[in-house]
Amino acid sequence: MRIALLGGTGDVGEGLAVRWGRDTDHELLVGSRDPERAREAATAYAETVAADTGGDPDDLAIKGFTNEMAADRAEIVVLAVPPYHVADTVETVADGLDADDVVVTPAAGMQRDEDGFSYHPPGTGSVAALVREETPDAVPVVGAFHNLAAGRLAALDAPLGIDTLVFGDADDAVSRIVRLAEEIDGLRALRAGGLGNAPEVESLTPLLINVARENDDLHDLGVRFD
Ligand SMILES: NC(=O)c1ccc[n+]([C@@H]2O[C@H](COP(=O)([O-])OP(=O)(O)OC[C@H]3O[C@@H](n4cnc5c(N)ncnc54)[C@H](OP(=O)(O)O)[C@@H]3O)[C@@H](O)[C@H]2O)c1
Repeated sequence: MRIALLGGTGDVGEGLAVRWGRDTDHELLVGSRDPERAREAATAYAETVAADTGGDPDDLAIKGFTNEMAADRAEIVVLAVPPYHVADTVETVADGLDADDVVVTPAAGMQRDEDGFSYHPPGTGSVAALVREETPDAVPVVGAFHNLAAGRLAALDAPLGIDTLVFGDADDAVSRIVRLAEEIDGLRALRAGGLGNAPEVESLTPLLINVARENDDLHDLGVRFD
């Protein structure tokens, strides 16, 4: 499978790229607004994976592209960009999406004040609803990976043992993303219903950040539903 990580030069892009790069044989297309930055990031991720596995970075299918090229070539398109830029990003890649693809949003709108972080969705009610609005109707949208700390994903020696919640209105698409998430060692994917449940899932992100900030040794924490 070909997976595009749009904004894959950032923290979540790195974490997902090195985990899928190590744990699967999928082709990883690191996307950026700047193809040179994408190529540099892809090379660095391949080196990280090879250092962990003892393999050769040149044997790994992790390559850099513009966001448009990555989305056009991939079947799974992860919007690993800040929440305020998901709409623009979807607009730039929309022509390359088709009904067999799945668009995945891990984004949570947040704001910060003196008490910490709070959930701050766009006017659509959730980032996922905004992505749904911007994405061509035939292309399924799935939410996943909101509650994973990027730093923990990127540290390949860190065991995960955590859950991610996956939601969406198209059952086949949700199943594809559940399987893809569970190919990462130590990650369990739990279904969380339809896109209408996005606010509950997205609002976990500021909650986890606040808990991490308030408690020593809980940096990069995750959740396990048990
Ligand atoms: N960080 C976490 O631990 C975490 C955990 C769970 C979910 N998330 C969600 O995952 C998403 C990505 O988070 P992140 O921490 O990886 O973000 P990030 O590192 O701040 O940014 C990711 C990438 O977005 C691109 N970008 C920046 N400004 C942009 C713009 N104006 N238009 C289009 N692209 C732009 C950049 O790539 P180029 O400059 O190369 O184009 C950047 O490398 C967010 O929506 C966040 O809510 C984050």
